[in-house]
Amino acid sequence: MSIYVDAAGNIRACYRAAQPAMPRLFIGSHLDTVPRAGAFDGILGVVLAVALVKLLAGQRFNFQIEVVGFSEEEGVRFGVPFIGSRALAGTVDDQLLSCRDSNGVQVVDAIREYGLDPSKIGEARVHDGALGYLEFHIEQGPVLESLDLPLGIVEAIAGQSRLDYVFEGKANHAGTTPMNLRHDALAGAAEWICRVESEAQAWPGLVATVGSVHVQLGAGNVIPGNVLATLDVRHADDATRKQAVEAFQTRANEIATRRGLSVSWKSNLDQGSVAMNAALVKTLKASVSHSGYPVHQMVSGAGHDAMIMASLMPAAMLFLRSPGGISHHPDETVRAEDVAAALMAGKAFLEKLQESALS
Ligand code: HGY
Ligand code: MN
Ligand code: MN
Repeated sequence: MSIYVDAAGNIRACYRAAQPAMPRLFIGSHLDTVPRAGAFDGILGVVLAVALVKLLAGQRFNFQIEVVGFSEEEGVRFGVPFIGSRALAGTVDDQLLSCRDSNGVQVVDAIREYGLDPSKIGEARVHDGALGYLEFHIEQGPVLESLDLPLGIVEAIAGQSRLDYVFEGKANHAGTTPMNLRHDALAGAAEWICRVESEAQAWPGLVATVGSVHVQLGAGNVIPGNVLATLDVRHADDATRKQAVEAFQTRANEIATRRGLSVSWKSNLDQGSVAMNAALVKTLKASVSHSGYPVHQMVSGAGHDAMIMASLMPAAMLFLRSPGGISHHPDETVRAEDVAAALMAGKAFLEKLQESALS
């Protein structure tokens, strides 16, 4: 395969077609992960794609295969996800390049420090002639294991909202300030976090998470004056997700007013839910069945690069069972026989695409 790294840090490997100038099928996932993660989220999809090409043993199709390892999907470092796949979609803009990490480093500078030229990001864009996109990924949840199934075909990916909240109170001496005269930003944020958790249960299928809290000054004998809290809200239906986000904002205002705090928020992501391509889903189901495995269609609660790739080409995803239903954790794992099942289904998928390319 001919391999190169594009200006957004994506690793891209091309497996040529039977003839030149044939459409491209992209197969990929992300290289990055979350802190103290497992060893399979993202990278399994890249390694499976390489293994699938190896399995072809030189067999050629009427389409090229481009394997992509996306440089950044999680959005942990800069608060905004999908930087790698957005470069292929041509949606990396100045606003994204100016996002900063917790040390104040901007995306554009991180790309330079990595030895790439951000002014060339436009060259990473996929313009036309794409046949489609396939992503292998662990389910990251308990569904396939509960059904004792090795594989799942994704029909849609839930939308997600990611926001930064700031609660401002009044730092003061922990020993001399009576309880009724305090404006404790952390106590207010904590009350709001518990309300988010309890009120999220009112929306079936909604998940809401405050995953990170930064407290200033963070000294044991100082009443916290400032708290940064992240909010992650997801649902398969966009209207429900937006309604919940608004409800959590109203709740934050109520709590802040009562406690004499101020509260503000900034949206880092408002990603609508994305349906996978019906024709590719049908081909993927036929491929799984042809390989002798049960077919199960499901919605993904986790976000994936397929959401971005679906904006520029037909996209499909194949899930592998997550033993223990655990992910974003060192105990994340897969079963070797499920990886073999995904490879067999992936090879059948390529062969079915070839049949339709020849018909
Ligand atoms: O957070 C997610 O949905 C995924 O792991 N990027
Ligand atoms: Mn992840
Ligand atoms: Mn992932």
